[in-house]
Amino acid sequence: MTKRWWRDAVVYQIYPRSYRDTNGDGVGDLRGITQSLDHLEWLGVDCLWLNPIMPSPNTDWGYDVSDYCDVHPELGTLDDFDELIREADRRGIRVLNDLVPNHTSDMHAWFKDARMSKDSKMRDRYVWADPKPDGSAPNNWMSQFGGPAWALDETTDQYYLHLFLPTQPDLNWWNDDVAVAFDEILRFWFDRGVAGFRLDVCHAVVKDKDLRDNPPATEDDPPQVRGRGQKSIYDMNRPEVHDVLRRWRRIARKYEPERLLVGETYVWDLQSLIAFYGKRNDELQLAMNIPFVHSRFDAGRLSTIVDNMESGLPRSGWPVWMGSNHDADRLATRWCDDDERKVRCALMMLLTLRGTPLLGYGDEIGLPNVTLTERQLRDPVGMRFWPAYPGRDPGRTPMQWKSGAGAGFTAPDVTPWLPFGHPSRCNIADQKSNPRSVLHLTRDLIALRREETDLRTGTYSHRASPDGTWVYNRGKRFVVALNMSDDVAKIPRVRGKVRVSTERDRDDSSFSGGLVLEPWEGVVVERP
Ligand code: NOJ
Repeated sequence: MTKRWWRDAVVYQIYPRSYRDTNGDGVGDLRGITQSLDHLEWLGVDCLWLNPIMPSPNTDWGYDVSDYCDVHPELGTLDDFDELIREADRRGIRVLNDLVPNHTSDMHAWFKDARMSKDSKMRDRYVWADPKPDGSAPNNWMSQFGGPAWALDETTDQYYLHLFLPTQPDLNWWNDDVAVAFDEILRFWFDRGVAGFRLDVCHAVVKDKDLRDNPPATEDDPPQVRGRGQKSIYDMNRPEVHDVLRRWRRIARKYEPERLLVGETYVWDLQSLIAFYGKRNDELQLAMNIPFVHSRFDAGRLSTIVDNMESGLPRSGWPVWMGSNHDADRLATRWCDDDERKVRCALMMLLTLRGTPLLGYGDEIGLPNVTLTERQLRDPVGMRFWPAYPGRDPGRTPMQWKSGAGAGFTAPDVTPWLPFGHPSRCNIADQKSNPRSVLHLTRDLIALRREETDLRTGTYSHRASPDGTWVYNRGKRFVVALNMSDDVAKIPRVRGKVRVSTERDRDDSSFSGGLVLEPWEGVVVERP
């Protein structure tokens, strides 16, 4: 086992409510994940990231935590969790939990106490401020989910901060009690055997002490910032966030092997992203690249992001790449318009870049988003912005294990918490029996990556190639050529043996004198 095992790993995200239901309530559970470990071992993934499993009123589906040291009853028990860790470990699979340090649920005991009076011992664990003289909110900060980021608490006549829903009050990270309580929470799960955490909104945990107004966005800002009308420089991305990350890394380093901190670092500029690795490699080991996942599936755009990361990230850092997650929809639909050729190309890219690939559950079969009606929505963001934006449920629907009622996710007569798409068109069982399926492509690419050091840790260098294509060397022995366009592409000066081709028809064939790629075709070539 290498010390920095995550550099060699393929991480697989599981949305526990949607993976496998073993008790017939239509909601996935921890036992369901344990029962799926054979599939995950067969697929070859090394590490699972579980979306929050802690008790929660579920106003934001687990991201509103009411107890950090237990398991939500719908998902199981701490014993079930221990069993999952044990069984995963037996198969060489590690488990990351999701930790939500920016806010708690309003049903957390700390907040219930804090809101009772200004003198509560818990009061200062949250961010409170007096109304302006006209009664309005203390500053111009906006919730990520729409509207002001402040809610008036009528009992104590002060506003509390919520960067997300009003049921998700923000913690005050200037208060040392909060920091100490989280030290204990980290240790609680590390001691139970989790390999690390995905840290929710970790770029935002500390707020400006003086609660200054955010300045307006300018024309130079990225569209996402312009869309909000203000630059988040006082409610997020404060320099003191780095102190918190260093504190957590010190705890992670006390464990053997060192525990992994993967940050949801929702920033749009490269320098801010790189800063999360720490000046002395003493903050996150992996910082999620948000512009990459939100980019169009376009050779020029994606390769520019990767090239910039490659040249900007110090050698001590390591990239992480993902195309799907529970907020951003599934890559099959968002990047690939449900076109299987594109899905194959996207998987080849993710699994051959230098960096840790992070697959979403269902990516291995090219699971598409599911179109939902308004009545089927469960995500508060979708419910608020429907029909302009259906929210995040289309990418959170249950895993499709097989065709037929229940889709192997739940019993045939049970209604799942979110509807299935079309299990008969896309499911694990059918693809498993077809060696040319997307599932086998994913598995074979993972296996090749395991086998070939160059594909894991070899250098990345971008080769000149026609527009709409992306060609890169990995180490000395491999070339990856992706045609991300609707036209046939000629790639000069490549020769060797195709180890894996997206359509599988060229596997093991040798060629010289250049390469011709069909639209949306990709190959991994071993040089002579
Ligand atoms: C980011 C999470 O990924 C998202 O699902 C959640 O709604 C917000 N943080 C708030 O915790």
